[in-house]
Amino acid sequence: MNLKVSVIGAGNVGATTAHLIYQSGIADVVLFDIAEGVPQGKALDLAEAGPLWKVAASIKGSNNFADTSTSDIIVVTAGLPRKPGMSRDDLLHANADVIQNVVSNTAPLSPHGIYIVVTNPMDVMTHVAWKVSGFDARRIVGMGGVLDASRFRTFLGFELGVSPEDIETLVLGGHGDLMVPLPRHTTVKGIPVQDLLDQRRIEALIDRTRTGGAEIVSLLKTGSAYYAPAASVFQMVKSILFDEHRVLPCAVYLSGEYGVHDLFVGVPAILGKSGVEKIIELKLTDMEKAQVSASADAVRELLSMALAPKK
Ligand code: APR
Repeated sequence: MNLKVSVIGAGNVGATTAHLIYQSGIADVVLFDIAEGVPQGKALDLAEAGPLWKVAASIKGSNNFADTSTSDIIVVTAGLPRKPGMSRDDLLHANADVIQNVVSNTAPLSPHGIYIVVTNPMDVMTHVAWKVSGFDARRIVGMGGVLDASRFRTFLGFELGVSPEDIETLVLGGHGDLMVPLPRHTTVKGIPVQDLLDQRRIEALIDRTRTGGAEIVSLLKTGSAYYAPAASVFQMVKSILFDEHRVLPCAVYLSGEYGVHDLFVGVPAILGKSGVEKIIELKLTDMEKAQVSASADAVRELLSMALAPKK
């Protein structure tokens, strides 16, 4: 039997994720959405590319949760965009309701599945997904750090004129303005980035990384980034499905690591077939510790808003 990945939400991020997984042929894909026809249409369009891509796996669009059963991985991208007049609080509650609905309907059907949560605010939605699923926390992981790190690598590649493939970096903290890129752990083929760029330039690229999502939104006018987010999910999916044990920064449940308790926050983790196989704890400077702590506080504040009853 083929491996199976269900992608919940057939919008930009979900459909692009489904595209990457299907085109690679590594798993059967179910693309689910509440909008009728949309997941079916996108899945059919992708299936019709299958002969050209020489894909043997299948793809199916659905509005029926039953089609997601026995998934190895469930990628959650379902959510609502912020509409005019909607406060951040309204959006938070609306998306928490979406996650509640999606996870309560999918978890019993895929009791051995692993969730990758993408819906923003991602760290908070990952926590909600964990609570609703009742799963061991190692089987819930949020996508954020891989994308933030990829953005930082891209900007460093532009700046230095080197292939971003040769740039390694780590980003800690929540997937938001207070994320903590780590120049100390950033290298170009092993060369510390601080040997190649002055502090001021590094800071400027970190700022651009922090606002990387907003930069795309302001260019697109409607909608937000999806190619790089989907590519980031794809890397996490592969590491889990093939037990690759990649070291990837992602939102995982912390119970004391990095001084953070009972919260999903971005840290480097080893992803394998059981989900989060191990959390890697780095020795941080006092300044980095303070930044991680401020970032975690911001996630905790949003989480308590999301869990509080609606006003
Ligand atoms: N169940 C299933 N699908 C849902 C539900 C639900 N309860 N509610 C909304 N959706 C679907 C919408 O119908 C839409 O097709 O989720 C999809 C979201 O797609 P887009 O609006 O295109 O959003 P996208 O750009 O894909 O981003 C999805 O990822 O990066 C984050 O901030 C982003 O939270 C957002 C999420």
